Amino acid sequence: MKILGIETSCDETALSLIEVDNLGKNLKILGNTVHSQIDMHVPYGGVFPMLAKREHAKNLIPVLKDVLTQAGQSDPALTENFSPEKIKGIETILTLDPDLLTAFKAYIPTVKKPDIDFISVTVGPGLEPALWVGISFAKALSYAWNIPVIPANHMEGHVLAALIEKTGEATYRLLDQGILHPALSLLISGGHTQIIVIGKGERGLEYGIVGETRDDAVGECFDKVARMMGIPYPGGPKISKLAAEARAAGILSPEPLPRPMIKSMDFDFSFSGLKTAVLYLTQKLTKGEDDATISLTDNQIKGIAREVEDAVTDVVVAKVAAAAEMYITETLIVGGGVIANTHIRKALEKFCNDSNIQLLLPQTDHATDNGLMIALAGYFGKNRAVDWQHIPKASGTLPIGPRIG
Ligand code: KG4
Ligand code: ZN
Repeated sequence: MKILGIETSCDETALSLIEVDNLGKNLKILGNTVHSQIDMHVPYGGVFPMLAKREHAKNLIPVLKDVLTQAGQSDPALTENFSPEKIKGIETILTLDPDLLTAFKAYIPTVKKPDIDFISVTVGPGLEPALWVGISFAKALSYAWNIPVIPANHMEGHVLAALIEKTGEATYRLLDQGILHPALSLLISGGHTQIIVIGKGERGLEYGIVGETRDDAVGECFDKVARMMGIPYPGGPKISKLAAEARAAGILSPEPLPRPMIKSMDFDFSFSGLKTAVLYLTQKLTKGEDDATISLTDNQIKGIAREVEDAVTDVVVAKVAAAAEMYITETLIVGGGVIANTHIRKALEKFCNDSNIQLLLPQTDHATDNGLMIALAGYFGKNRAVDWQHIPKASGTLPIGPRIG
């Protein structure tokens, strides 16, 4: 079974074509491209939704072309002849995306219908204008090539990215059969911080939220703290690098920072207090005589980065430990961009090792948004496939499952 995953929920235009064998045991990545828009959003200090939409519209066709070429499915000698009605239908579907329509009409009729069984597309959660354009694209491809569409939940994609294990250059083993239940998932990204109980339902994996952030997400906290210290978006990876330098050189934060809600009797999180504590600390450190402003020193920045990373790690591990005890967890599955963070990975590895819990982490380059995770969500959700007329609308807040605790 071959599935094309399309991800446009935030600032990555990402497509991936995967092939899963008949037994559902092995997977091959036939083509995989992530086009990041990060540089475009730097001046805004975060992702600007309408700009993201415009950039996706510009990048979707080149990214598709790239993926089909990698998969050996972009032979220009073989073309598809579309009837005038078909072209008209495509024009109607993409009427609100004129740039995408132009690129679509210029490329799609020049390639043969690819060997793809399903198209999987993120329908939420995420930035709605960014989701719209991915959904319209999936709709137009589905209509043009008569391929059914599987609506995918972005956060489920993050969970599933951890359920594959590399066996070769582009080959992986699917681990879903090996999950020991009860299983718990920790999702830490730029928009979400959640603890999820995973059950085995009749229709595959089922998800129930038992804890989540009451304000900022972990990634958002990293990005905002970085910004306060003059580090451009996205701050997460840079904070992590500075924190590692601080540890190597024995540099400490000028003051300790709080570990919000670490002792609360639930599995919820709050990171806005940590952000505010950094704001007050940086204000104090940059206040010179007679209201003059002085810059933070490199060592102060490194020390604060280290303390922020430590505070986040302490809270995340404490909450996971409490939830793992409550739900008698056998497997912990972690997903989301923040699990690219080496320090948090190591802390979770230590915790799981000490607690005899099976830990599944995504490959670092599959932690941040990508098309592979959406193709995987399509594979696991294949019984939800619909035709192009029945693709659901984008939902910015689409939950992965109900809140159950
Ligand atoms: O999952 P993702 O790519 O997008 C969302 O769905 O939100 O996550 C992006 C987030 C950003 O906040 C980014 O700063 C953070 O993941 N991030 C990191 C690291 N790499 C990415 N945070 C800490 N350490 C990292 N190495
Ligand atoms: Zn994400």
